[in-house]
Amino acid sequence: MRRCLCPGSFDPVTNGHLDVIERATSLFDEVVVAVLVNVSKKGLFSVDERIDMLEKTCAHLPEVRIVSFEGLLVDFARQRGISAVVKGLRAVSDFDYELQMAQMNHRMTGLETLFVATNPDYSFLSSSLVKEVASHGGDVAGLVPDVVLQRLHERLGRR
Ligand code: PNS
Repeated sequence: MRRCLCPGSFDPVTNGHLDVIERATSLFDEVVVAVLVNVSKKGLFSVDERIDMLEKTCAHLPEVRIVSFEGLLVDFARQRGISAVVKGLRAVSDFDYELQMAQMNHRMTGLETLFVATNPDYSFLSSSLVKEVASHGGDVAGLVPDVVLQRLHERLGRR
């Protein structure tokens, strides 16, 4: 079975993430969406909340499994016997850091990274921007799944 990882913070999942996950399912038999547990960075949503939103968002994708991980991605991939990562590239600004991580991961264990070019509809989109806009009462409908929109309203208040 061909399996890949789609790792990230997913605080919260956006429609850009969903696009990358859906496209990974067309390339691999199983897609493991791995949510980073980062104890030094408090997010807007807990890891359990992020996983819950991802599970609801990906409910129509039977090939997708949602899990959390701590520590190095390469260690998690090795424990699971997964040899490839799929990530989205939104713009040139993503490229430098993503290339560094891909090269470091490959150097450490041979973990491969495949990049998919983000759908231009979402090339400006990030979880941070969604949170900033939503926290000031801006409209992020159409940029995040409905479940996320609802949770953002609950967490930040509907203004
Ligand atoms: O959604 P993000 O925050 O851009 O995702 C970044 C993520 C989680 C993919 C990256 O930070 C990561 O893989 N972290 C795990 C720790 C690790 O392996 N660091 C070394 C990378 S070379």
